[in-house]
Amino acid sequence: MRIPLTDLRPQLEATQSRWRPALDRLLARAQFVLGREGEAFEREFARATGAAWVVGVGSGTVALELCLRTAIPNKPRKEVLVPALTSLFTAQAVLAAGCVPRFADVDPETLLLDPGDARDRIRSKTAAIVAVHLYGQPCDLRALAALSRRHGLALIQDACQAHGAQFQGHPLTAYSRWVAYSFYPTKNLGCLGDGGAVATDSSVIARRIRLLRDGGRQGGQVSRLQSTHSRLDEIQACFLRSFLPQLPRWNAARRRLASLYDEALAGCEEIRPVRRSADSVNHLYVIRARRRDALREHLRQNGIVTGIHYPVPLHLQPAFREFGPPRGSLPNAEKACREILSLPLWPFLKEDQILRVAETIRRFYL
Ligand SMILES: Cc1ncc(COP(=O)(O)O)c(C=O)c1O
Repeated sequence: MRIPLTDLRPQLEATQSRWRPALDRLLARAQFVLGREGEAFEREFARATGAAWVVGVGSGTVALELCLRTAIPNKPRKEVLVPALTSLFTAQAVLAAGCVPRFADVDPETLLLDPGDARDRIRSKTAAIVAVHLYGQPCDLRALAALSRRHGLALIQDACQAHGAQFQGHPLTAYSRWVAYSFYPTKNLGCLGDGGAVATDSSVIARRIRLLRDGGRQGGQVSRLQSTHSRLDEIQACFLRSFLPQLPRWNAARRRLASLYDEALAGCEEIRPVRRSADSVNHLYVIRARRRDALREHLRQNGIVTGIHYPVPLHLQPAFREFGPPRGSLPNAEKACREILSLPLWPFLKEDQILRVAETIRRFYL
């Protein structure tokens, strides 16, 4: 039997007693944009994450863009520090906000933004840092918040892979005023299309993002500021409300399954899991592997689908090369991209499937 990288069907099946009647009610009401499902989801997600405010938008990329637009208003071409190992959409959001990405290296063990390297790249044009909670693991928010304070920078959190995560017992919004989420279907909390949200403890920022997501208007047809057009629609909010109560259970299952991978792969010298802290919500289970590409092909031939998050560091991607630095400058990210491999993981993955993946990996290295 094939093992996919992720499988959404069991989650849909487990929650259908909630979303089917909710969808029926929504279809009967026939209001599909900016209605009561979206408002209720914003309140419920705020409560679940410990934020004062949540504003739903059309994607994680737009959530990041609007964070930056409220953090750095009217200052074109300001620089934003971004880790070189993240989704390309993190950097696209920086450009969409009228800023320029300046790439920094990651910690060689956790693969999260290295606060020391970020500090060394700060210069007068730098206006913000994007802390990406990669693979579900929060960055060192104490260090990054202190660094941002010291240099007068905005700290934007890319929590697109970290739904339900806290850092050292506190909500993510306790460390900065901008936390961006994606609800792309494969996330720990996903919808059935594109969706995103900004969480913040600032009512001023929440209000501004509400304007920015909807043509700069407050209802009606008067536009108060130049903006974009990107809202979380009612159908997606309906699914998100049905999935949200399961998030703690699903995150607990991910944690248990990740630990099982650790055990099943222990002692296999040729691979090692990327280091995780207890705060990780285990969005992905990522190993570093010798002869990664050959291992991936061996797994594929045995019906096991894997992923690479990500194969090319951002400073070497065609769209971002002009922002530098050149190859060889961010060695931890560059090396990681040659070695990392994401193994199948979703909350309903079976233990015997994990054992089969581990066994297939061991066989490759015999
Ligand atoms: C770390 C990270 N940042 C940003 C994004 C962009 O989110 P979206 O696809 O919802 O625009 C994603 C999702 O792909 C992501 O994983």
